[in-house]
Amino acid sequence: MLENIVVHSIQVYRVSMCLVDYLKLQGIQMDGQLVQAAALLHDITKTRSFETEENHALTGGQVLTDLGYPEIGNLVRQHVRLDDYSDRKTSRKPRLSIMPINACSMTGSFHWMSA
Ligand SMILES: [Fe+2]
Repeated sequence: MLENIVVHSIQVYRVSMCLVDYLKLQGIQMDGQLVQAAALLHDITKTRSFETEENHALTGGQVLTDLGYPEIGNLVRQHVRLDDYSDRKTSRKPRLSIMPINACSMTGSFHWMSA
């Protein structure tokens, strides 16, 4: 894996954990270990995609699913393009009211985001 992709994945992990903390403050519980794994692995096939021109989100998701991690694979598969959820009966708007960066500061996570 290319070094810049490793660095990018670590940064995505850091931001993701910040968002998990923020959502927790908003009363929304997330599976932090699932998010952590997906964040770190989301570009697992990105390096090879430069040669193969494969859709790295789809192939990364499939690799993880084939390895026995379908939940992580599903998140990785959607990291470029989300599935269409527009047919859901509710069109509830997000009720989050403060910027995530504020939550990161409040939880003490911000200092390592900028490290
Ligand atoms: Fe990606």
